[in-house]
Amino acid sequence: MQSANMNVMIKAARKAGRGLVKDFREVENLQVSVKGAGDFVSRADREAERIIKEELRGARPTYGWLGEETGTEAGEDPTRRWIVDPLDGTTNFLHGLPHWAVSIALEHKGEIVAAVIFDAAKDELYSAEKGGGAWMNGTRLRVSGRRRMIDSIFATGIPFGGSGKLPAALQDFARIAPVTAGIRRFGSAALDLAYVAAGRVDGYWERDINAWDVAAGILLVKEAGGFVETIRGDGPVVDAGNIVCANAALFPEFAGLVRERP
Ligand code: IPD
Ligand code: CA
Repeated sequence: MQSANMNVMIKAARKAGRGLVKDFREVENLQVSVKGAGDFVSRADREAERIIKEELRGARPTYGWLGEETGTEAGEDPTRRWIVDPLDGTTNFLHGLPHWAVSIALEHKGEIVAAVIFDAAKDELYSAEKGGGAWMNGTRLRVSGRRRMIDSIFATGIPFGGSGKLPAALQDFARIAPVTAGIRRFGSAALDLAYVAAGRVDGYWERDINAWDVAAGILLVKEAGGFVETIRGDGPVVDAGNIVCANAALFPEFAGLVRERP
């Protein structure tokens, strides 16, 4: 049984996703002019957030809001807020790479209670409600069963050019890559988390990440049986700005390695 809130979230994600798929087809035609493509994608991103906001706030006008494009808006109900990334994986989208998603989370009293991540290009809809398991297109998800680091692959984000954070990130690779079956950089934090929930990758870590990138994915991983913490291992993860997660068997060793650089 799906809650009324989940129905509202899925409707919003599918509606925004349909618009983004149309825009994604257009992006290829615009590649000749990089600036043209960039402006077009920014518009597509803003339009997706507008659609989601209209749907969610229309159905639940008292809830608060945090969206990547429009920021924070307090609601009459201070205990609930939507946390939305209308287009996670923007750089992939801009390059015509079909790996991006709409991410919608509902937070209640500081805890994520419902989550939807929609990979519209692949028509994969991930959803979770607290206590109700994690799902993809009607199939129950479980984190992977791998127990050895050397058999396992881990997703992460690599800081983009100009951020100045690459030298530090390379220290992570130097510690982690040699003891694993590989590191992946897919370009969408929301889908990285959905893939951990689906057992497609065995763990994920990232530094300098925003609440809207990870809010929905955190619940998916937990409901699929995974462990999710901040890199320091303190406090709530959503607003922390960093994250480490894996299946229960790998978590202590993997998180331990990540934590060697606090
Ligand atoms: C980005 C993606 C990427 C992550 C970055 C995010 P955006 O979000 O999730 O995987 O490494 O930190 O900012 O910009 O595509 O919405
Ligand atoms: Ca994002």
